[in-house]
Amino acid sequence: MMKVDDVKKIAVIGSGAMGHGIAQVCAVAGFNVVMKDVKREFLDNGVAKIGESLQFLVDKGKMQAGEMRKIINERIKTSLDTAEAVRDAQVVIEAVPEKMDLKKSVFKEISELAAVDAILATNTSTMSISEIGSVVKKPDRFLGLHFFNPVNRMKLVEVIYGDRSSHAAIDLMCELSKKIDKLPVRVLKDRPGFIVNRINAPNQALLSAILDEGKMKPDEMDAVMKKMGAKMAPFETADFVGLDVFCHTLEYYANTLSPQYKPGTYLTDKVAKGELGQKTGKGIYLWENGKAVIDLSRETQDITPLHLLAVQVNEAVKVFKEGLAVSTEEIDTAVKFGMNAFAGPFVLASGMQPEQLTEALEFLYKRFGLEMLKPEKEIRDGSFKSLGK
Ligand SMILES: NC(=O)c1ccc[n+]([C@@H]2O[C@H](COP(=O)([O-])OP(=O)(O)OC[C@H]3O[C@@H](n4cnc5c(N)ncnc54)[C@H](O)[C@@H]3O)[C@@H](O)[C@H]2O)c1
Repeated sequence: MMKVDDVKKIAVIGSGAMGHGIAQVCAVAGFNVVMKDVKREFLDNGVAKIGESLQFLVDKGKMQAGEMRKIINERIKTSLDTAEAVRDAQVVIEAVPEKMDLKKSVFKEISELAAVDAILATNTSTMSISEIGSVVKKPDRFLGLHFFNPVNRMKLVEVIYGDRSSHAAIDLMCELSKKIDKLPVRVLKDRPGFIVNRINAPNQALLSAILDEGKMKPDEMDAVMKKMGAKMAPFETADFVGLDVFCHTLEYYANTLSPQYKPGTYLTDKVAKGELGQKTGKGIYLWENGKAVIDLSRETQDITPLHLLAVQVNEAVKVFKEGLAVSTEEIDTAVKFGMNAFAGPFVLASGMQPEQLTEALEFLYKRFGLEMLKPEKEIRDGSFKSLGK
């Protein structure tokens, strides 16, 4: 089996938002990288974005200008030809659009053209790793490698097992992730949302339910979070990401986790009206000069950060019980670095009484009737604090 020191060349398929970022962090770490896309202008655009990002480091004195030139001129190559891109590559990372048919056809081609022992990884954020990998010859060397956006700044990488991935391939990609200055967390099962997005999912359903209920205004929750020092509060984040994307995510969970995730009418009406958030200037909030207009004087103690934390730790318990993560510590690492949070849910909830969390969850469950908010046994009896120990 290949060792991490044997990896010299990495092929990145797709040079969009994620692909160029992945190419950048690999090249900065010293690997030879080939980016492949379907149009020359997309490749040029990807290289230009890498240039801007590295120039920023040079301007800040964090990188030598000579090193930047070396990365751009020598380590990063581009190609429109898959055979050329994957030839001699020990690792191939795919970051093409999130469409199952496209990903399968891309991997069918890669699998024909790459070395038979090359590790093949998909950066999918929502699709089944096993299904994508079903087209690959020797699927034991196929796995998920889920980076977070923006790749150059987000530390976390989820290294995800498909149903046939070998431990050796997963171990090697964890080592490689460290070499490119990332923090790998193993995801032991191929389940919707993997770890980080899954733990966030019930709170997304809750936000949709709050909007539909209409009793508590978005500012009332967001003002509390902003005053506690959150860079982005929950409704503000939804607007920032785009309400179309937010709805799409909820639809995905409705199809894969539970129908109760279906986006509510507040959100679907907004999307129908084209009020998508920051990108259209209006969503849940009005956006002026790139900022949401949030009335900070409106904070209330109706649904609070404590409620959101209770929902998060409750889902984290489920994730652990389903065997997705090695330990609760790994779950905390994933959430902390994947969501840029102050700490993970188990750490944040460690000082809290089980009754407090149970009460918060029961309050939400009674009010919104969402099954995914029901407190788990381990929350009720406090044993979530020692799960897996
Ligand atoms: N954007 C995010 O926040 C984010 C975060 C994590 C994971 N992801 C996942 O990463 C993947 C890529 O997302 P993105 O945001 O970079 O998309 P993007 O649309 O910005 O980039 C995709 C690129 O792939 C290219 N492409 C299309 N077909 C191709 C082919 N056959 N060969 C080579 N290149 C091809 C496109 O031209 C485009 O440049 C998706 O699976 C997405 O779900 C995205």
